[in-house]
Amino acid sequence: MKFLVFLGTVRDSTPPSPARLGLRVSKACIECLLSHYTEHEVELIDPLDYPLGPVFKPHFAYSQRTVPPELNELADKIESADGYIMVSPEYNHSMSPALADMLNHFGSSLFSYKPSAIVTYSAGQWGGMRAAVGMRTFLSELGCLPVSAMIHVPKAQEVFAEDGSVQAGQNQASWFEYFSRTFNQLIWWAQATREHKAVVDPHKIVMPLKIDPSQRNAP
Ligand SMILES: Cc1cc2nc3c(=O)[nH]c(=O)nc-3n(C[C@H](O)[C@H](O)[C@H](O)COP(=O)(O)O)c2cc1C
Repeated sequence: MKFLVFLGTVRDSTPPSPARLGLRVSKACIECLLSHYTEHEVELIDPLDYPLGPVFKPHFAYSQRTVPPELNELADKIESADGYIMVSPEYNHSMSPALADMLNHFGSSLFSYKPSAIVTYSAGQWGGMRAAVGMRTFLSELGCLPVSAMIHVPKAQEVFAEDGSVQAGQNQASWFEYFSRTFNQLIWWAQATREHKAVVDPHKIVMPLKIDPSQRNAP
């Protein structure tokens, strides 16, 4: 199966804390996934690789001929993936605007009927818990329901080095065991939804909203 790790930071300055702590956390997640689940593919989606333009215009608002190639490329990756790992810092007790912006560029039909895992971190002691709570709502609305276990990394700068390896004094096995609780759930759900989708196409049963959100209104 194929999993995308969405990185939720574009911050390239400091202070506070070393810049783009999220890159360390994402690299650690990828290392854990590749070492524990060797049969699966994992790809990092870095928002800096997909410039989205100064004015918000989502993928689905373009005609097919005019959609920017990088948006199309990312849409294809989202559609063909089996699950998502959403890595977000906590900014003002909320998920990162960079992550929300990137995800908002794509319709829920690309994400739906596939699971996601919530990974949050912070420079402080709460590990992004408050951002994680809001992410449940956001990801559920996108249709990639988050698994129940979550990963939170407090003081991420003290846990992971720039290359994603653990800092001196940290135990990699303990961190990966903690990560695996969430990743095991993600992979179980991804396998289950993949197999069931091959039997029943959900998009034939629940039509995507093609015209207007009022299509789902109560009568
Ligand atoms: C605008 C802004 C708001 C922040 N708000 C919070 C917060 O609510 N809770 C928290 O624990 N840390 C907060 N922080 C600190 C972040 O945890 C820390 O800067 C972290 O490194 C951000 O991740 P990043 O480097 O990957 O962007 C905030 C940082 C910024 C830049």
